[in-house]
Amino acid sequence: MATRKKLLNNSDHLTVGGADLYRGDALAVLPTLAGPFGAVITDPPYSSGGQSKGDRARSTGAKYLNSGQTKYPDFLGDTKDQRSYLHWSALWMALCHARMADGGLIAVFSDWRQLPVTTDALQAAGFIWRGIAVWDKTGGARPYKGGFRSQCEYIVWGSKGSLAGDRYNPGLFRVPPTAGGKFHQVGKPEALMADLVAAADGHILDPFMGSGTTGIAALKQGKRFTGIEISGHYFGVAAERMKALRHR
Ligand SMILES: C[S@@+](CC[C@H](N)C(=O)[O-])C[C@H]1O[C@@H](n2cnc3c(N)ncnc32)[C@H](O)[C@@H]1O
Repeated sequence: MATRKKLLNNSDHLTVGGADLYRGDALAVLPTLAGPFGAVITDPPYSSGGQSKGDRARSTGAKYLNSGQTKYPDFLGDTKDQRSYLHWSALWMALCHARMADGGLIAVFSDWRQLPVTTDALQAAGFIWRGIAVWDKTGGARPYKGGFRSQCEYIVWGSKGSLAGDRYNPGLFRVPPTAGGKFHQVGKPEALMADLVAAADGHILDPFMGSGTTGIAALKQGKRFTGIEISGHYFGVAAERMKALRHR
């Protein structure tokens, strides 16, 4: 039975199928969580998609999709300039760090523009930066006339102190963006998130869960999951996906 509660920090809390889901701002919700979390696996808004303030303020559909047309609503929190993105990232990562078990893994998606500030923020938040894995979107990715196809996104990863996990995981993941269905304007394929979740131990936290793909992967692997999403629409999508999983 899913139970929904209104919280004082203007967020909602729902438990569904072994997952704790929060609709609210990650900066307001994270301080209320106890943890300890075994891993943070997340795909934050990149605040990317252009060189100028005007570029960044465009709708997320116009920034990140080829045609600018999408049947999925825009998502929120994607208009920061690079300096504020760095500060904001260090803030939420530090809140995660304080709630993680020693040895826990953090894996954060980034595009090429935000890669340098994401690695800075991870270290500023107290994590040991250990590397960058690559998501190869394969041939379906956005072409670039005269240049190189925008075929990859990156997974900046590290740990809270010495890394506790003992598996050997690949550093390159080849998965088409729409493999396994699409539930969010820039949702990640479930197979990709499943590979990342498989590398992690313990309770998984995703402070920017969108349509809940990390959570679906975690629940299918029998792992506990906590997710946060600011958009009411995508929070609802995540909750419905997890309910459907429970009723399979
Ligand atoms: C890139 S999407 C995540 C997509 C997800 N990986 C999926 O497969 O559906 C990032 C999400 O973070 C949400 N978001 C933006 N700012 C936020 C904030 N301050 N707190 C919580 N969620 C936020 C956006 O609404 C968006 O849905």
